[in-house]
Amino acid sequence: MSFIDNLATLNISIDTADSQPIYQQLTQQIRQLLLDQRLTPGEKLPSSRKLAQLLSISRTSTLNAYNQLIAEGMLISEPAVGVFVCTQKTSAGKSTAANKPALLRDNINPGTSREDKVAVFDAGPDVNQFPFSRWAGSLKRVWRNPDPALLRDFPLGGYLPLRESVARYIKAVRDVECHPQQVIITAGSRDAVALIASAASLAGEKVALEDPCYPPLRHGLSALGAKLKYSSVDSQGMLLPESKVRLAWITAARQYPLGVTMSTQRRLDWLEYARQHQCWIVEDDFDSEFHYSKLPLTPLFNLSARLYQSDQQSLILAGSFSKIFFKTLRIGYLVVPETLIDTFVSAQRQLGNLASVPIQPALADFIGDRRFAGHLRRMRRCYQQRRDFLQQLLHEKLAHKLDTQLPSGGMHLLAKLKSGVFTGDDCALERQLASRGVSAIALSNHYVDRGEQGLLLGYSGAPEKHLELGVRRLQEVLG
Ligand SMILES: Cc1ncc(COP(=O)(O)O)c(C=O)c1O
Repeated sequence: MSFIDNLATLNISIDTADSQPIYQQLTQQIRQLLLDQRLTPGEKLPSSRKLAQLLSISRTSTLNAYNQLIAEGMLISEPAVGVFVCTQKTSAGKSTAANKPALLRDNINPGTSREDKVAVFDAGPDVNQFPFSRWAGSLKRVWRNPDPALLRDFPLGGYLPLRESVARYIKAVRDVECHPQQVIITAGSRDAVALIASAASLAGEKVALEDPCYPPLRHGLSALGAKLKYSSVDSQGMLLPESKVRLAWITAARQYPLGVTMSTQRRLDWLEYARQHQCWIVEDDFDSEFHYSKLPLTPLFNLSARLYQSDQQSLILAGSFSKIFFKTLRIGYLVVPETLIDTFVSAQRQLGNLASVPIQPALADFIGDRRFAGHLRRMRRCYQQRRDFLQQLLHEKLAHKLDTQLPSGGMHLLAKLKSGVFTGDDCALERQLASRGVSAIALSNHYVDRGEQGLLLGYSGAPEKHLELGVRRLQEVLG
């Protein structure tokens, strides 16, 4: 997606009535886009003439703004080619003829610092396609005349209109029926872990966790005193534990990081196990909005509500907005059984309510807008295309070194290392790629005892040119 295609979402606005000169307004806004990394290193900007036309301002203003940012080392001009976003900074922050920043498509510089590293395999949302102008509209609408309740107290359980919007949202995307009171707004998965650990009194108790799993879960639960019991994952999903556990944390829709969808039979086995052992289940459904080839299976939450009495099951659905909005939003939610609403609200009262209150009404407004569904549909299509593109590329270029399978959904592809293709382990491979400016994540780090060797290659947040570059670097490193 080029700068011009993106112009509407980049939200550049020039106010001719403002006392600040137009070129300064433009300089500031482009500088902010660069600092926020909403323009990609190496990305070509429109010519000063074209930008002037698009924004209905004079060419002198766009030229002055570009020249200022070139002087600051944030943009680079390639004579007779165009103006580009710089890929690196010189020590003084200024570009010099001797130390000219190279363009992304030609070179990602070995030894770039972590901050400068391009997330070539990015498993986050593509923030460049996020409708920021609508988001700004939601924030403005809500905060121009704020609900006084927002200014006084932390609403326990979360801001009610957001709980209502989330209840409608999960009905639409997952067919989960619940009352708004069952929705507990969290500040993301770490907050969810703390709330659940407190509500279920997990200190000293056995907790079943998938092996491999999302590492922050392992660290979070053990820091809170849970005794972790690891269960392997086979082609039907997480295996049942051999002994009684107090709680099981399951990524049933798509196992993280392996991508396995739990079979219906295994789901039923887990629910029966939970009934027999009075074990709590957390169904961690962090990205099932993004399914491509087939429709997701019925959530454990719905199966449990259908098959068991409310006092027989403690099933909690955990969701996140990190994969739909942007990682730094830090808002997620739990859907808890009616019998546990009070327990969770008091856990939140005791631990403190961490979810940002200012963001909650804007989020309610934003996801309540019917255009939100259109955004999700567009992102699903885009991620599916990127998944297919990366799979095809890996198949063409690296099939003799890597085993890959097309995931039915999600935001990353798992590439297992064939034996003998690389002398070090996958962590060494991750480091070598990082030194070439490529972010990919070692699979073995997700296992408690160093399991299979491979890489998690994110595609959702990576345009095709990044994926091509990443595969090229992978070819170089794997030889
Ligand atoms: C298993 C799992 N749960 C939850 C999350 C989301 O966490 P958060 O809401 O803190 O961003 C992720 C993100 O990758 C995940 O892999």
